[in-house]
Amino acid sequence: MSDAGAKERRNKGIRAILEKGFTAVEGVLDRVFTPRLNPLTQLGALSYFYFWIVSATGIYLYILFGTSVASAYGSVEYLTIQQWYFGGVMRSLHRYGSDALVITMMLHLLREYAFDRYRGVRWFTWFTGVPLIWLTLAAGISGYWLVWDQLAQYIATATFEWLDWIPIFGEPIANNFLTRGSMDDRFFTLLIFLHIFLPLMLLFAMWIHVLRISRPKVNPPIGLALGTIFMLTVLSFFKPALSHPPADLGVVPELVQLDWYYLFVYPLIDHWPAGIVWAALVGFSTFLCFMPWMPPIKRPKAAQVFDDRCNGCKRCFEDCPYGAVIMGPRTDGRPYPHIAVVNSSLCTGCGICVGACPTSTPFRTGQELVTGIDLPDRTLQDLRTQAVEAMNALKGDRKIVVFGCDHGVDVDALQSTDTAAIRLPCIGMLPPPFIDFALSRGGIEGVFLTGCRPGECYQRLGVEWTKARINRIRDPYLRERVPRDRLGMFWAAPGEVDALKEAIKSFRKDLKPTPRAKGGENA
Ligand code: HEM
Ligand code: SF4
Ligand code: SF4
Repeated sequence: MSDAGAKERRNKGIRAILEKGFTAVEGVLDRVFTPRLNPLTQLGALSYFYFWIVSATGIYLYILFGTSVASAYGSVEYLTIQQWYFGGVMRSLHRYGSDALVITMMLHLLREYAFDRYRGVRWFTWFTGVPLIWLTLAAGISGYWLVWDQLAQYIATATFEWLDWIPIFGEPIANNFLTRGSMDDRFFTLLIFLHIFLPLMLLFAMWIHVLRISRPKVNPPIGLALGTIFMLTVLSFFKPALSHPPADLGVVPELVQLDWYYLFVYPLIDHWPAGIVWAALVGFSTFLCFMPWMPPIKRPKAAQVFDDRCNGCKRCFEDCPYGAVIMGPRTDGRPYPHIAVVNSSLCTGCGICVGACPTSTPFRTGQELVTGIDLPDRTLQDLRTQAVEAMNALKGDRKIVVFGCDHGVDVDALQSTDTAAIRLPCIGMLPPPFIDFALSRGGIEGVFLTGCRPGECYQRLGVEWTKARINRIRDPYLRERVPRDRLGMFWAAPGEVDALKEAIKSFRKDLKPTPRAKGGENA
């Protein structure tokens, strides 16, 4: 099944380099951690997890925190030194969890960009990701103030001098830091309030960020979560987070050690005029916000529901990775309460709903294949015709058909006298009865499925649903009668052509010729 847009979506330039880099590192991490626990494939979930670590440790710190200018520094020192075994560890976990959040967030941004998962209907998730960067940084920076050491003094003075460039506050806020005693408890309470309010805003924004994603992975697997906590705890014991000397508004702070994850902007504030720093940040954010349209992705036509075939079973609704299917009330008098309705502005044309529909069966020979839901540009009827023609043309005693997707290895290159290659928008579009059909009617010996690597499925859930359908844990099940030794699978990144060829070769070697190998009964 060809589609012009699919090839066009293959990455070029910087994106292609980043994609290669991620794929290579992920390949290594797959071997170290196993694909299920690979941290690079769980960056969004890890960011959520670090947020929770930072929130939980923050609550403990707040309980023992002295909320006045005079007591703040001493209370943090008490936690760090006297209560090093618990309060100190909580403080370090709070610090390192926040740093880890910035790292995973930025890697997550890069990875979504590298794998081209930020354009088309994904614009919303990308767009709402941008404020998360600034909220995370602002929340972290406001945390550094509360220690009220020389670093806090430096950051507070620099921040407010920078903010004062915008003449919205009557009196410059930086005046609060000009002389000894000018910092009062009321102003300090405002700083504390900001450090609680900003993370709450961040949480709200994180919720909006994943609102349009169906079944977002917001929790890492337990093994990864425990491993992460263990690592951060060990780090906290060996390199505890410490304070600078206490703040003294009467003196200019000594050279302070910056936390580069949060405070990278301060050297810029020191060396550039405030207006330029504002222009750089606003310009960079605007650029990020508009990236999904630079250039816009060529979107395939949205899936279409055929009312007279839809029985309202909800499988497409449950399997769509983008929440593009809703179940509406039925008004055509048929005896089912619901009917599927596609929201075309959310549909990526992945076809996973087609693979889920119970009416997507190729066995009705001689008839046109009309299913409950289909892709106008790449119909199931076309898929059947293409598969049948390709299988009929095969020769040899171990003929196989390879079903692949637009985003994994380009299977077109595998086409040969004994191998038929069929490409779909996502492997999740392949209804399991097609496997049964190919093996029982196609006159072939084997069916081989390939698609993106686990955790990297371009259409998010296509590989996961395919495996679940084949393992008979998710509807539509692959029928029990299908001989499993004639079905092979290999999930590979676009560049892993040789690994896929090797997997197919060894699958073919193990295949036994069937008695009906010469020309099966085709539709
Ligand atoms: C606190 C920071 C962030 C958190 C906690 C977070 C969390 C998440 C989560 C949980 C997902 C769903 C993953 C899945 O189940 O497939 C996701 C998806 C996504 N995020 Fe973030 N994210 C953050 C920051 C960002 C940033 C800064 C950007 C880019 C500007 C971004 C862009 C995206 C995109 C484009 C997706 C959609 C991926 C897809 O549809 O396959 N995120 N994020
Ligand atoms: S084609 Fe994909 S995105 Fe569109 S409705 Fe079907 S499953 Fe959802
Ligand atoms: S899977 Fe098919 S039959 Fe079931 S609700 Fe969706 S379109 Fe209708």
